[in-house]
Parts: sequence; C-alpha cells; structure tokens
Amino acid sequence: MTYPRSFLRCAMLALLLLSSCSANATPAPTLTTFEQLGQSVFNLRCAQCHALVPDTVIIGPSLSELATRAGSRVPGMDAAKYIETSILFPKDFLVPEYTDTMPTNFGKELTSEELEAVVTFLMTLK
Ligand code: HEC
Repeated sequence: MTYPRSFLRCAMLALLLLSSCSANATPAPTLTTFEQLGQSVFNLRCAQCHALVPDTVIIGPSLSELATRAGSRVPGMDAAKYIETSILFPKDFLVPEYTDTMPTNFGKELTSEELEAVVTFLMTLK
C-alpha cells in the first residue's frame, strides 16, 4: 500500500509536533536520595491521614503545596521550623477546622534522620 506524499508529510509533521510537545512538558520533579528517604517515611507514617493532591481530606488536611503556606502559619516561624513543630508537637498549632487527632509520639517513633528527611521532603511541596 502506498500513501500520497502529502499524507506522509502530514504524518511526519504530526509526529514531530507530538514529540516536541512531550519534550516541553514539565518534567516530574526529581528527588534527591535524602528527599526520597523522606518520601518513604511519609508513605509509611503519614499517608494514611494526609493526601499530597490538593483539596483531599483523609483524616488530616492535604499537604499539597505545604511548603508555600507553612511559613505564614505561625508568626516568626519559618516553613521548615513550622513543619518540624507540626510533626513533633501537633497540638501547638491546630489547622483551622481540624481536631487534634494527629499522633503526638513521632518524636519517639522517628529517628532524627527520618524526621529531618520527611521535613526535607515536605519542603519540596511548593
Ligand atoms: C492519624 C492521622 C494523622 C497522621 C498519621 C499524621 N497526621 Fe499530620 N495531621 C493530622 C491532623 C488531623 C492534622 C490537623 C490538626 C493539626 O493541626 O494537628 C494534621 C496536621 C499536620 C500538619 C499541618 C498542616 C498545615 O497545613 O499546617 C503537618 C505539616 C502534618 N500534619 C504532617 C504530618 C506528618 C509529616 C506525618 C507523618 C510523620 C503526619 N502528619 C501524620 C492527622 C495525622
């Protein structure tokens, strides 16, 4: 079966367009090894209550774009400090409209490396 030249040219163009489209798509953010460790801590310990997609409540609030709002939650507390405090002392600041059902024993349950890694991972959520 033979195709007319114009059809072939069209098909080539479509292919070119398609491939340039995918090349322009925003690449998935790549995580460092330490951030990946934090992600696995999150999946193991936090994902049963926190979604990472917007507007999705499991038991706790979605942590989508957490790093963007964390710095303005408590006056004088920067984003990383707020996230760490939220994990260690969840009752210190309650997210409006939520009750204090977050576990309070992460300070004992997580090693200091796991804690730092999960904070570092959450800081990538902008
Ligand atoms: C049993 C459910 C539960 C688990 C498990 C849990 N959380 Fe929470 N978390 C909550 C609830 C409910 C809130 C909202 C009330 C509050 O502020 O404590 C919350 C609030 C937060 C906030 C504040 C969010 C904001 O928008 O200010 C952060 C950060 C957070 N959690 C991180 C974590 C991390 C990290 C883990 C795992 C190490 C975790 N949580 C595990 C239920 C949970």
